Amino acid sequence: MPKLRKTRREQRPVLVVHGPNLNLLGTRQPAVYGRETLAEIDRRLKATGAGLGLSVESFQSNVEGELVNRIQSARTQGVKFIIINPAAYTHTSVALRDALAAVEIPFIEVHLSNIHARESFRRHSYFSELAVGVICGLGSRGYEFALSFAANRLAKTPGR
Ligand code: DQA
Repeated sequence: MPKLRKTRREQRPVLVVHGPNLNLLGTRQPAVYGRETLAEIDRRLKATGAGLGLSVESFQSNVEGELVNRIQSARTQGVKFIIINPAAYTHTSVALRDALAAVEIPFIEVHLSNIHARESFRRHSYFSELAVGVICGLGSRGYEFALSFAANRLAKTPGR
């Protein structure tokens, strides 16, 4: 079989990071988080990403240290952009924030629900001031908007 020649643009790696309890999407408080499963969301992001010239890899963990390790390895792996829903760690994790600051990979913070329209403890995020942007309250569409932004931004910064 002939080898497929990939253009530089097609190889741009984007990492999608999902924090704790997001593995339960589909059955977890569907009125708040919707009925789509994480696998369905990740499949769609991979397909949408491929259409935009991005290679999208998703990672979910309920363990803070594993999320830190994954973000650290993103730099050595050459990841160009991160889309992260830190879930409950949004409101608690200095370690995860520090990992993102350390790798210096631009990222968008995404939340399925509108964290500003819920309990007051959800209004504070350790991530927002470091993020390129924050999307919340748009359900799983938020990830797609973030991906489309990433594709645009990476197209404007060739080789970076
Ligand atoms: C969430 C909002 C967080 O407050 C919550 O802890 C989550 C999910 C969201 O996507 O709406 O687990 O990040």
